[in-house]
Amino acid sequence: TWTMSEFIGKEITRIRNLVGPTGQVLGAVSGGVDSTVAATLLKAAIGDRFKAVLIDNGCLRLNEAEKVQETLSRVLGINLTVIDASEQFLAGLKGEHDPEKKRKFIGGKFIDVFEEEARKIEAESGGKVEWFLQGTLYPDVIESISFKGPSQTIKTHHNVGGIAERLMAGHGLKLIEPLRELFKDEVRELGRQLNIAEELVGRHPFPGPGLAIRVLGEVTKEKVEMARKADHIFIGMIREAGLYDDIGQAYAALDPSRAVGVMGDKRVYANIILLRAISTKDFMTATPYPFSYEFLSKVATRIVNEVEGVCRVAYDFTSKPPGTIEME
Ligand code: XMP
Repeated sequence: TWTMSEFIGKEITRIRNLVGPTGQVLGAVSGGVDSTVAATLLKAAIGDRFKAVLIDNGCLRLNEAEKVQETLSRVLGINLTVIDASEQFLAGLKGEHDPEKKRKFIGGKFIDVFEEEARKIEAESGGKVEWFLQGTLYPDVIESISFKGPSQTIKTHHNVGGIAERLMAGHGLKLIEPLRELFKDEVRELGRQLNIAEELVGRHPFPGPGLAIRVLGEVTKEKVEMARKADHIFIGMIREAGLYDDIGQAYAALDPSRAVGVMGDKRVYANIILLRAISTKDFMTATPYPFSYEFLSKVATRIVNEVEGVCRVAYDFTSKPPGTIEME
């Protein structure tokens, strides 16, 4: 058995030995727990030879890029570059309705942007970027193996398989995964030991493809905006009600079907917001979170009143299985 502080010491030594005295490591960060903890470890091990990039794919949550800049760069002192690639992502998603194709496109574009940044850093520093960091956890490893049956992949997860292989093959980058043997709870504990703020350490998971898989079907800027606003309202109300830490994951998704409603004496024909919140131990199985009727009514009222283009709100009562946590 080992304690978290022993783990930190050992891992820092292992990373230093692996990377050597001049090696550079590039890591994508998202503002989530895993990548923030992984980045903090790298910073502790090799300082500014670790370079973090946040790729804004146009499908991040409200003010997320600014938040990440504040936490990683200002508070944690990590060398961070924010790349706004939102137009490229949104342009590429145009006309695409299929969830797997959306995921594949986002994964592929992500690699392109990441590789371009690696080349830029090499040109500026004169040294090679040999390593890249991934905040892969033990359950990601397990799920991606169990998800890949002989002939079928249920979902192409953004952070396991695919991306890493392509970065290794295409750019000759080698992978560092300091969290590969840990469960989420252990990563949170590690984050606390590394003095990362509790609000970040306790954050719900957020998928790599972001709001793109929470806008059902074709993604447009306007639809992402609706999902983003509704999500912000829902999560804010969950926090205010003191329910956040009791919930495994919660979000608002946009169903682009339209329904009829009356708002201020006028007939409207507008989109539907789907709310999802789950209780879970390990994200492999989940049950819908039992909100009170009153709470859900208040959320619905606010979303319809405040998010233009939305006239209905529904709550998803599906367990996993048969549902998955994300809608796509
Ligand atoms: P599902 O929808 O498969 O989600 O029940 C299980 C957990 O994984 C997250 N998820 C992802 N995370 N990249 C990620 O980093 C992805 O492509 C991705 N897809 C799903 C999901 O949010 C949930 O926590």
